Amino acid sequence: MADEILTEVKEQVGIIRLNRPKALNALTLATMEQVAAAVEQYDRDPVIRCILLTGNEKAFAAGVDIKEMADVSMMEMYYRNQFADWERIARAQKPIVAAVSGYALGGGCELMMACDIVVAAESARFGQPEVKLGLIPGAGGTQRMSRAIGKAQAMDLILTGRMLKAQEALAAGLVSRVVPDEACFDEAFKVCQEICKWGPIAVRFAKEAVDKAFEAPLLAGLHHERKLFYMLFGTEDAREGMAAFVEKRAAAFKGK
Ligand code: CAA
Repeated sequence: MADEILTEVKEQVGIIRLNRPKALNALTLATMEQVAAAVEQYDRDPVIRCILLTGNEKAFAAGVDIKEMADVSMMEMYYRNQFADWERIARAQKPIVAAVSGYALGGGCELMMACDIVVAAESARFGQPEVKLGLIPGAGGTQRMSRAIGKAQAMDLILTGRMLKAQEALAAGLVSRVVPDEACFDEAFKVCQEICKWGPIAVRFAKEAVDKAFEAPLLAGLHHERKLFYMLFGTEDAREGMAAFVEKRAAAFKGK
């Protein structure tokens, strides 16, 4: 099996690049297994503080591989649980930054929405075109899209299958930043470098607390956030971060 992804560690950033350019990075089962395994490996690796997921200039990913899915029966689909790997990725404790150029459609858009920060190139196009195939989004699209951009815009995208341009996606709240095409990867890497500077426990807890906002009712989310905040007072990093501020020096975080 050809490698469906390329991985590389640069500084403290674990990079994953989808690598099926001829198929616009359409996501096969094997691709998603490799992405999920790489995310989990980086998540366990104490050197890595942030994960960067990207595709190529033409496509982040144009969806689940339709050719691999076209003849699958309902029970085969049920038993193989096609979308379990998206959840493995969403469960990562370390932040995942997506650098998105070209198409992010269907399962590709859903993969992007399972990440934490999205840096989009001007050329990026986003959509959930599953209705055009007689399907619906199955890897979280109806849920994450609605939470990200609200019901009215989510319905518009999902029921018509139309694509959003990068600036529209920014205005809708689907992506975090839009940059010129040639700057997309570098900007995403800079975001990772910025995150890598800060206390890694605080970064994880912050991600966990923001995620809770989308998973739990407000009161449960507030209690969870407060507990994580109090717990940070048991870490050396919080002592160091606050002491460094008072002493007007840079903090040296150790992840302890
Ligand atoms: N699955 C399999 N192959 C795909 C693919 C996909 N999702 N998207 C593109 N490809 C393949 C094409 O079949 C083509 O392969 P061949 O050269 O062997 O014919 C190659 O990639 C290049 O694609 P096009 O020639 O179509 O490129 P284009 O520039 O003319 O069009 C596009 C680009 C508009 C993105 C078009 O490829 C397209 O509409 N792709 C499908 C998008 C889609 O429907 N995605 C949702 C999939 S279902 C899903 O993801 C379910 C879910 O909820 C998880």
